[in-house]
Amino acid sequence: MTDYELLREQIESLAESERHWLPLLSNASALLYEALPELNWAGFYLMEGGSLLLGPFQGKAACIRIPLGRGVCGTAAARDETQLVPDVHVFPGHIACDCASNSEIVVPLHRDGRVIGVLDIDSPRLARFDETDRAGLEAFAAALERAADWREL
Ligand code: SME
Repeated sequence: MTDYELLREQIESLAESERHWLPLLSNASALLYEALPELNWAGFYLMEGGSLLLGPFQGKAACIRIPLGRGVCGTAAARDETQLVPDVHVFPGHIACDCASNSEIVVPLHRDGRVIGVLDIDSPRLARFDETDRAGLEAFAAALERAADWREL
């Protein structure tokens, strides 16, 4: 089982030396990709010019821009609501970046109450994510929101 408490402490401790969002999100994607078993992608999309722009990630090269409301990421951002998708192939409008992905979880990120991006995690295993992952990743995202300096975002 993933130790989400430890992951949160690790990101908070990394933020003590540098709070800039770019290295922090880069290290956050690396931490998640290492710590969670059975992933093929972990990373961020950030709001830019009214759509989601690819940010720091681990995994295969991915789609660069996602319109709000499109796919799992665009839906999470537009609704400001975590999307826990047991089978991406039945999610309307799912955007297949890596055909190995079968399940996905997307958690919105906020600054001053508005959505500034999403944390997106993909797995090749169907129904890889459960309510424990949702709670752990929402707490991780909240720690990032507090820890990061979101300059120019
Ligand atoms: N599957 C996502 C697109 C991003 S990739 O998974 C990295 C979606 O439907 O929003």
